[in-house]
Amino acid sequence: EITAPVIAIDGPSASGKGTVAQRVANALGYGYLDSGSLYRLVALAGQQAGVGYDDEAGIAAIAAALSAEFRGDQVLLSGNDVTEAIRSEEMSAASSKVAALPAVRAALIERQRAYRRWPGLVADGRDMGSVVFPQAEVKIFLTASVEARAERRYKQLIAKGVAANIRPLLQDLRERDERDASRSVAPLRKGEDAHLLDTTELSIEQAVDAVLGWARDAVDGKR
Ligand code: CDP
Ligand code: CDP
Repeated sequence: EITAPVIAIDGPSASGKGTVAQRVANALGYGYLDSGSLYRLVALAGQQAGVGYDDEAGIAAIAAALSAEFRGDQVLLSGNDVTEAIRSEEMSAASSKVAALPAVRAALIERQRAYRRWPGLVADGRDMGSVVFPQAEVKIFLTASVEARAERRYKQLIAKGVAANIRPLLQDLRERDERDASRSVAPLRKGEDAHLLDTTELSIEQAVDAVLGWARDAVDGKR
């Protein structure tokens, strides 16, 4: 069975995964999966249903029944536009709590694999290369110093006209990094088969070019 190629991009928050993954997908004409938004949708749906983030069976049932739709840059939950709502600091923290529940992760695996379609997929998250697409043609661990990442989030908020401070952003990133890296299932870490791409000193264009270079090597190498 020949399956469509996958480029898996994993890494911590604000390392540039989403930005780089979308540009790589556009350059190659591939589809794009933002797996983090699925965990954010589960957290929001849990809050709306009044289910606690520590109720594993309850949140897993919500994950299994999730009605999620991606329309361009819009994210819909049961038909409602929640693009902004899932990006709040509250949902960022809540998503990493529900993501630590094994039954929730299991409930989302096949849904994520269904995005693998021709001519190819770029998927970003924490466990794209390790769990969801272990056979991915290209695996990248995208990272940057926590200070650079806090600065990026800060600039994003200021650009949106939101008042922001570096300190709480740093604190949030450190807490989320710690929770994502220390959980028992699918912890965030670089696999041996992943290319390390540290973007602390790189522009977005340089990061995109590096990924496209590895993608060409891997996909052409198979032909
Ligand atoms: O998806 P993830 O949380 O990893 O990060 P992102 O939302 O794609 O990127 C966070 C911010 O960093 C965006 O505003 C990017 O434009 C910026 N960025 C950057 O300044 N330099 C890079 N090399 C990559 C991203
Ligand atoms: O954009 P940012 O990197 O801040 O977060 P995200 O990619 O939207 O993911 C939100 C949360 O979902 C993360 O902190 C992880 O806890 C979780 N997540 C995960 O566990 N596995 C994935 N494949 C993607 C996200």
